[in-house]
Parts: sequence; structure tokens; C-alpha cells
Amino acid sequence: MHLAELLFVSSLSVATFALDNGVMRVPPMGWLAWERYRCDIDCDHDPKNCISENLFMDMADRLSEDGWRELGYVYVNIDDCWSSMKRDDNGRLQADPKRFPGGIHKLARYMHDRGLKLGIYGDMGTHTCGGYPGTTLDKIELDAQTFADWEVDMFKFDGCYSNATEQEQGYPLMSKALNATGRPIGYSCSWPAYQGGLPPKVNYTQLGEICNLWRNYGDIQDSWDSVLNIINWFFENQDVLVSAAGPGKWNDPDMLIAGDFGLSMEQSRSQMAIWAIMAAPLFMSNDLRTINSGARSILQNKIAIVINQDPMGIQGRRILKEKSGIDVYWRPLSKNASALVFFSRRTDMPYRYQTTLSKLNYTTGSYQIYDAFTEKTMTLKDSTSFVVSVNPTGVVMWYVSAPAKRNIRQFYRGGRLQGSLFDDDENAISPVFL
Ligand code: GLA
Repeated sequence: MHLAELLFVSSLSVATFALDNGVMRVPPMGWLAWERYRCDIDCDHDPKNCISENLFMDMADRLSEDGWRELGYVYVNIDDCWSSMKRDDNGRLQADPKRFPGGIHKLARYMHDRGLKLGIYGDMGTHTCGGYPGTTLDKIELDAQTFADWEVDMFKFDGCYSNATEQEQGYPLMSKALNATGRPIGYSCSWPAYQGGLPPKVNYTQLGEICNLWRNYGDIQDSWDSVLNIINWFFENQDVLVSAAGPGKWNDPDMLIAGDFGLSMEQSRSQMAIWAIMAAPLFMSNDLRTINSGARSILQNKIAIVINQDPMGIQGRRILKEKSGIDVYWRPLSKNASALVFFSRRTDMPYRYQTTLSKLNYTTGSYQIYDAFTEKTMTLKDSTSFVVSVNPTGVVMWYVSAPAKRNIRQFYRGGRLQGSLFDDDENAISPVFL
């Protein structure tokens, strides 16, 4: 076989590794109820914040009117505690009639009318984690068809109240059942989180074939401790996780909590930057009706979003964990660009971290840098020493353009080529303004 044919054939086989439903070629973005609203069903006392159709319609209004949708935040996802405690007479799941008087189908229409998508939640097992009706093996096809009939766009399949054997059957079966409906439904699997997140118990090759995203690890809570714990687990296990991710198949470190109560602005930036490096799904769980402008501008940071949504879909890694408490993260991006994040674990004061691009494995050349949060640009040669000042529990995040093409100037005399000279300083790449 010729090399070109070989490459073509191997690219085909790579393409078939991801779930073949065509959705989520870049990490999905949107809003998810759980972390902020949990199982608040007390609509009599808390009508604005209880799990009801009003809450999801309110969030849809905010997404479509406050600039989120245009940035890619299009999913509005229901989590646990949406359903009635009983299935209907035909054995189908049904929404709680008091809190969702219009039913889920009406809510899906509401989203679609606004260019948004609706996600829903179920559980592989006898009950959901919150104690609502689960989806046992015999109900998988029926429930998949019900969600498709309601024109749902994404489905999170949790794993409470089932054992490893049932999960091993149920998660692939649900994937097939969703596909068989003919409706493209993004499929989020909590399976690995229930099996410790690591091989040999977790088979990431198989997950990539049946799910679009998967929760690998425990639930996020509204605290920096929780975010740091998640960051540590994901990067301690990066060798396993990075190769599992790609277009259509993503590791999910759980929701973004900027705009809630537990993170400072620095910490919110850190979560956003590191989730972007990880090619993580970006589901916010916060109150978009009252979010402050600081948290909003972090979650709407265009450079962080461009990095997160890079079409190559290669998950980034931690490349350095310094004794000083500085971590350096790197992600390769399309167009030969890359992203760098300098993160401080320190708790004293801003730390001046000094390095060069060549120490960070960059090859010879002159690079255009765009700082995601200060919005400043600069040009840096690989060998130039630079200093970044990183705040305690904060980050500096850079989009790094491909090195400038070296300009070859050639000298002719009497019509004959005499020699050539590389013009290093001329930057052929325009600065990154997005
Ligand atoms: C589990 C999941 C959470 C959430 C709750 C709902 O804990 O991991 O994300 O869905 O169940 O009860």
C-alpha cells in the first residue's frame, strides 16, 4: 500500500473509534442544573430555584439573551429529580406534573425555538441517585425512545443502584438504543466514575466507541478544595486519560462553578483555564439570572473558549510540576498553535516564574503570544527568558501562535543566486484577535 493510502485507511479507522452519532465533535457547552440546584423540589417555598420548567426556561432566556449562545453555550440540561415518582400506565418515565406542567417535550421545543438544546438525566439502575425511578436493563429501549420522542438532544446516564455487571451491559445497550431511535442524542456516561475511573476496570477504548463524554471521577462541590482535588486526579492520571479523548469522545471533570459561592475570581479563572486545557465539556452550574460581571467575563472568555473548542480535540497535559508550586500545562492546537497555562498552588503572594519557551519544549522560532485574561499580545523568541507573575491559586493563560515562518531573503547578482539570509524578526503570523 502507498503511504497516502495507508494514511487514509488509518484515518478512517481512527474516525470510527468515536461514537458514530456525529455530535459533540468539540466539547459540548451549556448549563447543567445539578451542582447549583441539586434536588430542590420545594416550589412552594422556593419557586425561583426549585427544579421546575420555569428554572430551565429562565436559564434558556439568559443563554439566548446574554451572549452565551453565540459563544457555544447551547445545552440546557436537566439533572436528577425531574420525574414523577411513578412511571405512566405504559411504563414510560414522565415528568413531575406539578413542576413540569408542559412536559419535557414542550421544554425541548422551547430550547429549539431559541437555537438551544435540551439535555435530560436518567440512571442505569433501580433508582436515580436521588431516589427517582431508574432505568433497569429491561427499560433501556423504552426510555431511549421516550427521550427521542420528546426531542431531547443529550442524555446523562448515571449509575447509582446498579452493580458492575449490570453497568457493563446497560451502558453499551443504551448507546445502541439511542442510536436506533435515529435522533442524534449526545450520550454522557457516568460509568467510569462508578468503577474508579482507571483501567483495568475501565476500558477507555470501549467508552470512546459508545459514549460522547463520560464522568471519570467524583462530583464537584462548590469549593476550591473540590476543584483542586479534581485537577490533581485528572493530571496524576493524564497518561491514561489524554489518549482516551478526541472529537466526539471527552473526559468530563464535571461542571464549571464560577458564579457560585465557593471560588474567588482567581480560582474561577483557574478552573476555566484548566478545563480549557483538558478539552473538558463546559457545563456551567450557576444562576445566570444573577451572575456577577466578573464571573460572567471569565466564563465568556473568548480565548479560553477557542482553546477549549479546538477542532483537533487533543486533550492537554501537565508538562511541569515545579517545587515552587507552579504547574505548567500545555495543549497542542490546530494551525500549529498551542496553549500554555501557568498555575500557582501557592498561598502566599504572586510568584514570579521565570522560564523560556525552549525550556517548555518549543522549537526554534519567534512566537506570537496572546494572554487570555490580560488580553495583551507580545512576541517571544524560544530562547528569550521571560517572567510570568502568577497569583495564589490563580493562572496565567496564553494562546501561542505557530512560530513565524522564517522569511528567506535571497540575493541575486547579475541574475545569479549569490546566497540567502533568514529574516528572523519578520512575523508572518498576524496576532490572535478573535
Ligand atoms: C450523582 C452524579 C451527579 C448528579 C447526582 C444526582 O451523584 O454524579 O452529577 O447527577 O447523582 O442525584
